[in-house]
Amino acid sequence: MGRRSVHSLKAMKQRGERFALVTCYDYPSASLIDGVGIPGVLIGDSLGTTVLGYDSTVPVTLDEIVHHTRPVVRGTERAFVVADLPFGSYQGGPADAIRSATRLMQEGGATAVKLEGGTHVAATVEQMVQVGIPVMGHIGLTPQSVNQLGGHKIQGKTGAAAVKLLNDAMALEAAGSFSIVLEGIPSPVAKLISERIDIPTIGIGAGPGCDGQIQVWHDMLGLLPDFLPRHTKRYAELAGSARGALANYQREVIDGSFPTPDHAFELDEEAVEELRHLTGDAAGVTGVGPFDW
Ligand code: KIV
Repeated sequence: MGRRSVHSLKAMKQRGERFALVTCYDYPSASLIDGVGIPGVLIGDSLGTTVLGYDSTVPVTLDEIVHHTRPVVRGTERAFVVADLPFGSYQGGPADAIRSATRLMQEGGATAVKLEGGTHVAATVEQMVQVGIPVMGHIGLTPQSVNQLGGHKIQGKTGAAAVKLLNDAMALEAAGSFSIVLEGIPSPVAKLISERIDIPTIGIGAGPGCDGQIQVWHDMLGLLPDFLPRHTKRYAELAGSARGALANYQREVIDGSFPTPDHAFELDEEAVEELRHLTGDAAGVTGVGPFDW
């Protein structure tokens, strides 16, 4: 059947169908996501905080995103794969952005890329699209600018700030973006933007008025139990299950109830005899006493 096109999202918006996307950073998760028919995955730079143990997305490098994009591509047959351009890989302008995006697509195998910013990156997006790079935009709470925003703060809370976001979205649409992530903005503002542009909006902390939603894999599955952002719904508590399983495993190894014969491999009688003979055990030569074969 082949991989979905990123433009399938626009067709879904036109039909009034909502869609769910999710972030992904490795092969097994990618296979699970693809298996349930989720149309697209994002190797977000949230890789830094979810997988690599950084305290923000700022330190994430292009090499790290390329490295994690490859297994996600191998693990998906149908879903399109969007890879994040990390901080510092596109801010230098169109040539910088095209070079970085080319690495994500050629070395990583990504279908498309995502970058943060509105009006000020529109010219960059336009040139990327012109050379054949599908671009997903990202406005509102843009985590790469956390140091400039002064924290992970909701954006667009005044009339003027909301209009600026609307202008950013329209600039990205005019530049040729195929969709825009709206992160951390009030629901009415996200709804207004979603109604005013033709390309799909993808919300995270932006309410139900967006065309689709995206959640971060580790947050929605409860893999980082001490971190629950307001925009996350926990659909599972996998850290609790993993902890229980690990504790059981350790206990069973210590008390000798694991492994059982079901998890081990026997030697057939003939080989046992041969081994007894070769080690001298049959003749009592080993001097260590009888061995319980
Ligand atoms: O890096 C990321 O995971 C993201 C999503 C939150 C949209 O940018």
